[in-house]
Amino acid sequence: MNYKVPFVNFQLHYHRMESEIDAAIKEVLNGGDYIMRQQLCDFEDNLASFVGVKYAVGLNSGTDAIHLSLLAAGIKPGDEVITVAHTFVATVATIVHCGAKPVLVDVDRYFNMDVTKLEPAISPQTKAIIPVHLNGRLCDMEKLMDIARKHNLVVIEDAAQALGARFEGQKAGSFGLTGCFSFYPAKVLGSLGDGGAVVTNSSEIAERIRLLRDHGQQRATGDILFYGYNSRLDNLQAAILVVKLKHLPDWIERRRELAMLYEKGLSDLPQVQTPPPPQEGHYFDIFTNYVIYAEERDSLVDYLRDCGIEILVSWPKPMHHHEALGLEHFHLPETERISREVLSLPLNTEISNEQAQFVIESVQKFYSK
Ligand SMILES: Cc1ncc(COP(=O)(O)O)c(C=O)c1O
Repeated sequence: MNYKVPFVNFQLHYHRMESEIDAAIKEVLNGGDYIMRQQLCDFEDNLASFVGVKYAVGLNSGTDAIHLSLLAAGIKPGDEVITVAHTFVATVATIVHCGAKPVLVDVDRYFNMDVTKLEPAISPQTKAIIPVHLNGRLCDMEKLMDIARKHNLVVIEDAAQALGARFEGQKAGSFGLTGCFSFYPAKVLGSLGDGGAVVTNSSEIAERIRLLRDHGQQRATGDILFYGYNSRLDNLQAAILVVKLKHLPDWIERRRELAMLYEKGLSDLPQVQTPPPPQEGHYFDIFTNYVIYAEERDSLVDYLRDCGIEILVSWPKPMHHHEALGLEHFHLPETERISREVLSLPLNTEISNEQAQFVIESVQKFYSK
């Protein structure tokens, strides 16, 4: 279907940077620089300085960023790792792939880990916490890091949706042992395919992840130190990400402007709960997704789709209700409520103010009928 307001618009996104991206691709092709070349080093340097950490290691996905972080942190079979169910399945899958046990806690009304639920979930087997900064807003990292320090737990931030977001002035990914980013095309910084990265202030962890992503090979000596993985970020993707990262601060500003338009148009509707509007205070949110609670959610979704507005529902079935995953023993009322009540309105840098206004008026019309 050709939506009047699409959820993402990859074609227009590309056309607005066409000459820059084409030039970057040509440079890679002319140099024959496909794997682990200068553009990858440049991107890693630029990403580390953008986040405000010492090291970044480019990987082939956000999933691998979390998985390799857990391995580098020494997570092994028998360990427990605490995270949330209200996340993309990748977060939990990486714990299982290490042979560890996921322990799921509930989220708060802003969709992030409810830190008051954290301490009761800690056992002698607990080794790590994975906070997920969902929709471009950070978890309460002050309370979370205090608890982690008190219990000597590793923190691995799933910042796949939060590149550039801040809590108390500090950027997502810079609090924990590592921060994990995804460059899946629909993310605020998207590659033209899959991509991801780990950031860290630890030289040992950065080096371990560099080895893990490249089959345990020490490139300089040719020594193979252990069985690793193939999880390198392609040099071509890195070259494109170098170009796109320069635009990210402007894109974040535009996202926050659109969020403010939605806030002004929707916050007075009694049937809708909007997310906290953009502020400069404790939280600096980047609105990777604009998620609202809405009465009669399913009818509203159908109505908006019929109006030509592309709507996403993340996630209509809570992760712990998927039988195949073996997580049904968790009881997470807020996560379950969110699954029933929320929807994501389109918010991307290609949307015009007029399109956003059309979305607002369509929601208003639905409730005035
Ligand atoms: C919260 C979260 N965690 C992890 C991932 C996994 O990232 P990727 O798709 O790059 O593997 C994603 C992205 O899809 C995500 O949104």
